[in-house]
Amino acid sequence: MTGTRTGTGTGTVLITAADLRAALAAILAGWRVPAEQADAVAELLVEADLRGVDSHGAHLMPMYAARLASGHLTPRTTVTAIADDGTTAILDGGLGFGQLAGLEAARLVSARAAEHGVAAVAVRETTHLGALGAYTARVAAEGLICLCVQNGPTFVPPFGGVTPLLSTNPLSYAVPAGEEPAIVYDVATTAVAGNKLLLAKKRGDAAIPTGWANDEHGRPTTDPAAASVRHLQWFGGHKGFGLALLVELLAGVLAGSSFGTTERTASPLHGDARVAKGVVFIAIDPARFAPRAVFTAAVDTLVREIRGSERATGVERIWLPGEPEHERARQRARDGIPLPAPLVAELDELAAKVGAAPPRVRPAGHEQPGDHEQEEA
Ligand SMILES: NC(=O)c1ccc[n+]([C@@H]2O[C@H](COP(=O)([O-])OP(=O)(O)OC[C@H]3O[C@@H](n4cnc5c(N)ncnc54)[C@H](O)[C@@H]3O)[C@@H](O)[C@H]2O)c1
Repeated sequence: MTGTRTGTGTGTVLITAADLRAALAAILAGWRVPAEQADAVAELLVEADLRGVDSHGAHLMPMYAARLASGHLTPRTTVTAIADDGTTAILDGGLGFGQLAGLEAARLVSARAAEHGVAAVAVRETTHLGALGAYTARVAAEGLICLCVQNGPTFVPPFGGVTPLLSTNPLSYAVPAGEEPAIVYDVATTAVAGNKLLLAKKRGDAAIPTGWANDEHGRPTTDPAAASVRHLQWFGGHKGFGLALLVELLAGVLAGSSFGTTERTASPLHGDARVAKGVVFIAIDPARFAPRAVFTAAVDTLVREIRGSERATGVERIWLPGEPEHERARQRARDGIPLPAPLVAELDELAAKVGAAPPRVRPAGHEQPGDHEQEEA
């Protein structure tokens, strides 16, 4: 029953990765994003949906539509080098799609770390990169260890404060293994990514986990409607805040991007409306420290030791960072990607506005096993 529409109802439908990719690329092309760039952005959004990072997949399309319409996102992305001395480089993302600047920075840091053993690439004037693990995983696929951090608009106060100064400041690292999948750690330094809360609101979820966010009066809540993205909580309290500060120091201060309330962007949007983000990638070639096979075999040993650890009562499996997404991607490639009805309605509308075909969805029998548990991990 391909093509079943769900209007603005509730529930979930399924779509294949290929159909979602085609639908998103057609909408992006309708927004005058050059075809090759539209394909690359669509690819990364679908990759997030495949991996179960639903907050950073097709859900972001309405945000892009609004930013393009208001002129705050450039449809054609041009990434230029501002400085380059071999081991370090600074790129300018031209306030275009963050995915394209992210891919270019990941490519550059990989090449430079392979050449010099270690490299760092900063990106200024880029926008939302989406899920950072997509980039660190690409660098790890080249046999390199990678760290990536990104800052953004000021809507999260420091630990113990009420003045919004930081973003959800995500951090991802990836480490190549031998026979095991690469380890890919990819988190916001707040208890949850802001877009997960926005997606829970869009889906009309009955409740969110304790500790995600407070309401606008600063009171803890599990009601998604009452929870405010301006009152997200740090993960681990002062510890998450300390990591968020490192992200701000690297992606903001060091990269030459905006930080705190200091604006260093050509964009007129500032503070909590800021679209410009700073990014830093750091890569290390482990082969400079030990033969590559020795290093990756040691990573495999550690992974297996952790996975084989005695489990606490009630725990079915011990996961390594990146494994839930790796398994989800296999499952969704086989069974289809679940899309909530309100998101399908948004995509239908975006497609109609540019004269593109609506996404080819089919009814879902049921939610895929494990979906909810993993999103709350
Ligand atoms: N670009 C941006 O502006 C921005 C901002 C914030 C967050 N994000 C993205 O949002 C996404 C979600 O962030 P989040 O903080 O909500 O993530 P999360 O809390 O779901 O944590 C995800 C990480 O935890 C690992 N994980 C999950 N369950 C596990 C388990 N049981 N044992 C061990 N590891 C486990 C996953 O493999 C993954 O590395 C990330 O992709 C992040 O990059 C992006």
